[in-house]
Amino acid sequence: MDPGPAALTRRPATPHRPIGQPTRGTTGYNRLRRADRWLVHAPRVCAALTSATDPLVVDLGYGALPVTTLEFAARLRRIRPDVRVVGLEIDPERVRTARTAATDAVDFALGGFELAGLHPVLVRAFNVLRQYPVDEVAAAWSTMQAALPAGGLILDGTCDEIGRRSCWVLLDRGGPVSLTLACDPRHIDRPSDLAERLPKILIHRNVAGQPVHELLAAADRAWAAAAAHGVFGPRERWRAMLAALAADGVSLEPSRRKIRDGVLTVPWSVVAPA
Ligand SMILES: C[S@@+](CC[C@H](N)C(=O)[O-])C[C@H]1O[C@@H](n2cnc3c(N)ncnc32)[C@H](O)[C@@H]1O
Repeated sequence: MDPGPAALTRRPATPHRPIGQPTRGTTGYNRLRRADRWLVHAPRVCAALTSATDPLVVDLGYGALPVTTLEFAARLRRIRPDVRVVGLEIDPERVRTARTAATDAVDFALGGFELAGLHPVLVRAFNVLRQYPVDEVAAAWSTMQAALPAGGLILDGTCDEIGRRSCWVLLDRGGPVSLTLACDPRHIDRPSDLAERLPKILIHRNVAGQPVHELLAAADRAWAAAAAHGVFGPRERWRAMLAALAADGVSLEPSRRKIRDGVLTVPWSVVAPA
């Protein structure tokens, strides 16, 4: 499809040297559904999107095909019908490929962590920082944070190839806000199976003495103790696990009542590296 003149006028006007390096472009249809479902129900994200004067959202690092960007835009339109999504890629060939799918509401441009001079109210960067050295995460975060308007948010996440296991950090301009673990509880043996999908900032911190390791260990104990709930299905068992963790004093963000995914969200203070 030809993007047409409307799409072209939205593209970043000033050439920016994209910050970062091209990495593997692995992606897939519906791979980021759990993060998208969480985003469109998270009160803070909804408030940021619905109150934004300019409802501009960036999908950073969409990969070899722009499929997850198009899905993201369709999901966000349910809460903000006039949302505009710009997929940014550091690989120029991937930008050329994606532009054939541009529409009035979704466009694609060359860009990196500097966000190509855009000031989006929300940035989703999924499976991007995972491929960087851990000591580059802080600089990447602060470069993106510097581009946010007041109230702007970033989702930095990682998932497996088909999106069954997914983890993400929500950040605002001040720093990380929360960590979320999300999965299909029918396909895990225990919550710590998600450890291999922790965002880069935490994956190397899953060792004894670090808060994220303690959280996963506590979730595994609560999951084992909730085994009897398994007869009602793994989703019920996940809910029982959350209740046990809360009873143990773990500070959890409330879950939506009718939720398909197994989701566990904690304030960043619970997992901030020691
Ligand atoms: C593994 S793909 C992820 C695709 C998609 N987000 C997903 O999760 O399915 C990572 C993509 O991020 C791109 N990338 C890496 N660093 C980037 C940066 N600093 N800015 C923009 N894109 C970047 C790579 O070129 C690659 O296409």
